[in-house]
Amino acid sequence: MGVFAQEINGVVITFFSTASAVGKTLISTNMASELAREGKKVCLVDFDLQFGDVSNYLQLLPQRTAYDLQQAMNLQGNAVRAEEFLTPYEYHNVVFYVLAAPAKLEEAYNIDADKAMDMVRQLQKVFDYVLVDTTSTFSKLNLALLDLSTIVSFLGIVDFIPTIKNMKIGSETLKKMNYDKNKIRLILNRSNAKTRISIEDVENLLGEPFYHILPNDFHAASQSIKDGVPLVLRSGGSELGEALRDLVARYTNRVYDDAGDEHGPESWLARIFG
Ligand SMILES: Nc1ncnc2c1ncn2[C@@H]1O[C@H](COP(=O)(O)OP(=O)(O)OP(=O)(O)O)[C@@H](O)[C@H]1O
Ligand SMILES: [Mg+2]
Repeated sequence: MGVFAQEINGVVITFFSTASAVGKTLISTNMASELAREGKKVCLVDFDLQFGDVSNYLQLLPQRTAYDLQQAMNLQGNAVRAEEFLTPYEYHNVVFYVLAAPAKLEEAYNIDADKAMDMVRQLQKVFDYVLVDTTSTFSKLNLALLDLSTIVSFLGIVDFIPTIKNMKIGSETLKKMNYDKNKIRLILNRSNAKTRISIEDVENLLGEPFYHILPNDFHAASQSIKDGVPLVLRSGGSELGEALRDLVARYTNRVYDDAGDEHGPESWLARIFG
């Protein structure tokens, strides 16, 4: 198996948020696709264990899941070959691998956080990039993942006050963890969706600018899920697909934001939360 020949210490990117339906799965499946398109060895891990959508979004029918991998690890320890529990996603000549979420709720419930971390570590040995899709909670599993990750993509949308309040709680909690400044990347999704709240106000509230902003495109997003083909792999392209490609380019080129934005006077949002 040439592709899995020698040990690498792959980059782990976790997709996290403090609200559901902000685009974790859409963005992680697209980033996996774009990295694979660039020739990287990529594994996408679905750690939304109970309600994972990766297999749905990619129209995969996994034969083995994270639960089977855990069972094998219990028997064989680190001798297990995690890559044998993956499902390939193929589109034309682009290939990446998926560690699927368990098929049954009781299996998901019985996944142990320490074992889940072992899975990621095993996969890191054989993939350039291990991307991890998660749930929107500060659970034991997610906290362990945040620690282990090279990069945390913290996603948010600007829609209602409670979502923004939770984004602030999330970003402050992440700051308290004292990670390297470049580890946490604040990403705004669905930016031009109709809302009365300005991005600048939210940035002021969070105390930092967004690292990257993705546009709202309901049609392109829903069509790609319906077809099971991530936006970045489609010919013709869309603004959202381009913005997702740019995001990957920024991650891989290690280009960092010159965070010199000017912010206006204290906003009404800051007054509410300040
Ligand atoms: N930029 C976008 N423009 C328009 N629609 C989007 C965009 N990003 C995501 N969506 C849509 O939002 C919905 C939620 O996206 P997704 O499933 O990726 O979110 P999630 O954070 O993984 O949700 P969950 O917390 O339930 O796992 C999907 O229907 C998707 O098509
Ligand atoms: Mg999801």
